[in-house]
Amino acid sequence: MKDRLRIQGGMRLEGEVAVSGGKNAAAAIIPASLLADSPSTIENLPDIEDVHVFVELLRWLGAKVVFEGNTMQVDPRTVDKHNPPYELVSRIRASYYLAPVLLGLFKRAKVPMPGGCDIGARPIDQTLKALRVLGAEVNTEDDVLDCSADELMGGDIFLDMPSVGATVNSMLAAVNATGATAIHNAAKEPHIVDLANFLSSMGASVKGAGTDLIRIRGGRQLHGTNYTVVPDQIETGTLMIAAAATAGDVMITGAIPTHMESLSAKLLEMGVNVQSEDDWIRVRSNGAFRAVNVKTQGYPGFPTDLQQPLSAVLTVASGTSIVTETLFESRFRFLDELRRMGANVRVIENTAIITGVERLRGAKVSATDLRAGAAMVIAGLMAEGVTEINGVDFILRGYERLDGKLCGLGASIQRIQVE
Ligand code: EPZ
Repeated sequence: MKDRLRIQGGMRLEGEVAVSGGKNAAAAIIPASLLADSPSTIENLPDIEDVHVFVELLRWLGAKVVFEGNTMQVDPRTVDKHNPPYELVSRIRASYYLAPVLLGLFKRAKVPMPGGCDIGARPIDQTLKALRVLGAEVNTEDDVLDCSADELMGGDIFLDMPSVGATVNSMLAAVNATGATAIHNAAKEPHIVDLANFLSSMGASVKGAGTDLIRIRGGRQLHGTNYTVVPDQIETGTLMIAAAATAGDVMITGAIPTHMESLSAKLLEMGVNVQSEDDWIRVRSNGAFRAVNVKTQGYPGFPTDLQQPLSAVLTVASGTSIVTETLFESRFRFLDELRRMGANVRVIENTAIITGVERLRGAKVSATDLRAGAAMVIAGLMAEGVTEINGVDFILRGYERLDGKLCGLGASIQRIQVE
């Protein structure tokens, strides 16, 4: 079913909204739960397609899984397969995180390679290098990640760039490697820290997560645990940007303000009012924005996943903004859709030059990836008239009830089912 969203622009967002658990934290923690010798309970999971696919994947591997509301019970003791099928693995990119887990459990893992997507080729050479450092035989013929190791041995992994996926895969392999592993140039994202906390709660020895050097002492027997997943940094940011975009006044609860510092600083630079304490962030705006320059970086820099939503707002800022995307080589395709709404944007290599216009106008547009979809929703909320977005599956795959949450704040969004 190719659902569509129909948005009537111009409604101010006001009120309070709660953030869901982290999609990318869930993507790392759910596979990690298979490493235990007993059941785990994982709370505050987002109820999204990505999590539903992981439920199917874990059941296919033999685990007993119950997922109700936002809580998952996983009993990994009956897992007996190392080779999940293409038709399941291909539905979410993070399924390749199962490779180091199954390798540690069965000395063998055969997982179809993750594909590229609209934002870039997304190679995984750093993951392959990390697994080889720990002693695995790895080959990728026929587009399958086929790895084997009689015994994983700890070692020094030097990542060429602070890859989130390679850091996750290195951690998931290292906990089952005998001896000490050091991951150098590690990614520092909040969900890396959340994975480290989850593994530690299972009895693993993981130190330094959140810095560029993570040390793991592997080979310990890991036990089941009860764990609550960290709030979603990117959903928090998307809601903050939507509030600002509509000249709104929104209180976002259940958030972690320190995770949002780079975005909060950028919004303040644009003239948006941002206040925060403990676990809430309040965003107010009068709908007038100064143009700013943005350069995406790994955490704690400006997140690439918020580049697209913020660029949508910069199309109506006064002045010219320069947005430089340093992480993905083609994360500007959505700007073609914004042009259809009247945006004045030029792209030169990995830089977008956005000259503010008075106002966007509603149009029929497409979402080409998850965060591009969020950007189109934000553009629709700001635009004059009606915007119809197709490819809504992308948006609903990665955000829990984004349309419902925005309507709860006063947005006018209808979901149209299209056969
Ligand atoms: C994770 O992707 C996230 N996905 C992405 O979120 C996020 O944009 C990205 O990290 C950066 O924060 C999940 O966590 C499931 P990377 P990942 O490995 O792991 C290059 C979303 O919308 N690279 O840090 O794929 C690569 O080409 C998604 O939630 C290599 O060259 O990100 C890319 O340009 C989108 N070789 C850059 O590094 C490698 O071996 C960042 O990749 C690995 C990466």
